[in-house]
Amino acid sequence: MSRTTHTTLLVALGLLAGASGTAFAALPSGSASAAAAPCVVDYKIQSQWDTGFTAAVTLTNNGAAKSSWALKWTFGGTQKVTSGWSAKITQSGTAVTAANESYNGTLATGGTVSFGFNGSYSGTNSVPATFTLDGVTCNVDGGTGGSTGGSTGGSTGGDTGGSTGGSTGGSTGGDTGGSTGGSTGGGGDGGTGSRADNPYAGAKGYVNPEWSAKAAAEPGGSRVANQPTAVWLDRIAAINGVNGGMGLRAHLDEALKQKGSGELVVQLVIYDLPGRDCSALASNGELGPNDIDKYKTQYIDPIASILSDAKYAGLRIATVIEPDSLPNLVTNAGGTAGSTDACATMKSNGNYEKGVSYALDKLGAIPNVYNYIDAGHHAWLGWDSNLGPTVQEFYKVATTNGASPSDVTGFIVNTANYGATKEPYFKVTDSVNGQTVRQSKWVDWNQYVDEQSFAQALRDKLVSAGFNSNLGMLIDTSRNGWGGSARPTKSGPLTSVDDYVNGSRIDRRVHAGNWCNQNGAGLGERPTAAPAAGIDAYVWIKPPGESDGASSAIDNDEGKGFDRMCDPTYGGNARNGNNPSGALPNAPLAGHWFSTQFQQLMQNAYPPLS
Ligand code: GLC
Repeated sequence: MSRTTHTTLLVALGLLAGASGTAFAALPSGSASAAAAPCVVDYKIQSQWDTGFTAAVTLTNNGAAKSSWALKWTFGGTQKVTSGWSAKITQSGTAVTAANESYNGTLATGGTVSFGFNGSYSGTNSVPATFTLDGVTCNVDGGTGGSTGGSTGGSTGGDTGGSTGGSTGGSTGGDTGGSTGGSTGGGGDGGTGSRADNPYAGAKGYVNPEWSAKAAAEPGGSRVANQPTAVWLDRIAAINGVNGGMGLRAHLDEALKQKGSGELVVQLVIYDLPGRDCSALASNGELGPNDIDKYKTQYIDPIASILSDAKYAGLRIATVIEPDSLPNLVTNAGGTAGSTDACATMKSNGNYEKGVSYALDKLGAIPNVYNYIDAGHHAWLGWDSNLGPTVQEFYKVATTNGASPSDVTGFIVNTANYGATKEPYFKVTDSVNGQTVRQSKWVDWNQYVDEQSFAQALRDKLVSAGFNSNLGMLIDTSRNGWGGSARPTKSGPLTSVDDYVNGSRIDRRVHAGNWCNQNGAGLGERPTAAPAAGIDAYVWIKPPGESDGASSAIDNDEGKGFDRMCDPTYGGNARNGNNPSGALPNAPLAGHWFSTQFQQLMQNAYPPLS
């Protein structure tokens, strides 16, 4: 896998150099008059560099309720919309029309809708003076007459703008914390067609005997060997068992034993797409870029047929669908410094999208299967310019080729990655000497600094985009503990944003884009159901002790390549800001047992092991 970040390096460099950092608001300064306007448009330039910018637009309708809408404006300069999200945006000359998508056409009186876009420009990038909603002028009383100087009162002081805010309390509805036990006594959700809202609530987790034996064989390993970890179906042969190991039926039979009369969740990782791991090499797989039919008939269909066996109907089966794949299509498939030809191929042939839709549809048809789509992590997708398009990509894939949002229980973040669940000693909203921490090297203008705030905000965006309102998020906490002697115990010094962030952060990686066998990492929170609002569970998907990739080239018949991000002597690439890889030496192939890493993970566990 790659868990590649897209650091929006160009954006960051532009911001650092130009310090444009401005949030222009199109609201007239007198808010009372804005309230009386038939519609109010808040147009923010969230980031801007030499030749481009990202804008976020929030529209409030104060008129009659609408079932569709179109917002128009005229650019004052050479601005061109290059890509948009959450609205259909078209441009003719300087005239722009943003019309609703099929899922956000409804706009109640007092309702708001947000969309965004990336644009190019040269010269001055001014905020449009006038907006009309279905022909009515916004931001002015009565809806007619020219609005003048709407942008002159534009706020200064950083581009945070509060538009996404990384708020931890942002998620509404859904399964709130403390709902454990919600399903106790419920029983019988298998085979009836009604899924539990949160499959983890009130359930035990399946302990993979093969992983457990390896963990228990390590000195001190018995302290964690009874934790539930995921079973990775990482090749066709894994369905029947690799080299005499347990296959899928053997795991499910064992799961029935562990279940007894209670509820139990089995976690499976669906991970064998054509052209797998397109932005890296360490977890390239067995299927070539065009092997979509083989994926369907020899991989997904046999898995679906086993999971449909009535014998297993009482198990709750959580699937993690194809780590890294859709995020790679969004950030690494063309037009960015981190793009690869392999990802561009998978985007143009559509086989990641077809494979994921097919898996969602087939597995989602089984009443006791709970599909969670992989959603990268905060240091990959946490920039608005990445996250908006990612949400659109997820929605597209979940609504094509037979898939529907009802096939999706939720999403998972941080799969096999190292991002902290929560950074306890700094927040994205902190500033030092008037400078936002977002401009520190570490944060690099990201809107999030940890996985939980990212997961909760992403959840809200997914629901707004049309996914079910009871969507639940998972966070892989297998290796994001960052305990041990290097862990800070308080916030860093206020001498500069970099000093503050570097002194505060518990994530001690060289760069947040590093993903392979990270030196200094520890086991994170133990698997826990419903730990926070909107979060179905903390889970251990990547089995601790299994390598992320070999630190030097190793011949193998698994399709795995040598990725230098796993080589501790490597100086990095565009996706990690050309920083050292931070990887441990002497690592075996991805998925193979790496005793040294397992020992370090136990040593640096947080919460510590007792
Ligand atoms: C990596 C490997 C895969 C393995 C998984 C879990 O992604 O490529 O073979 O099953 O990690 O360790």
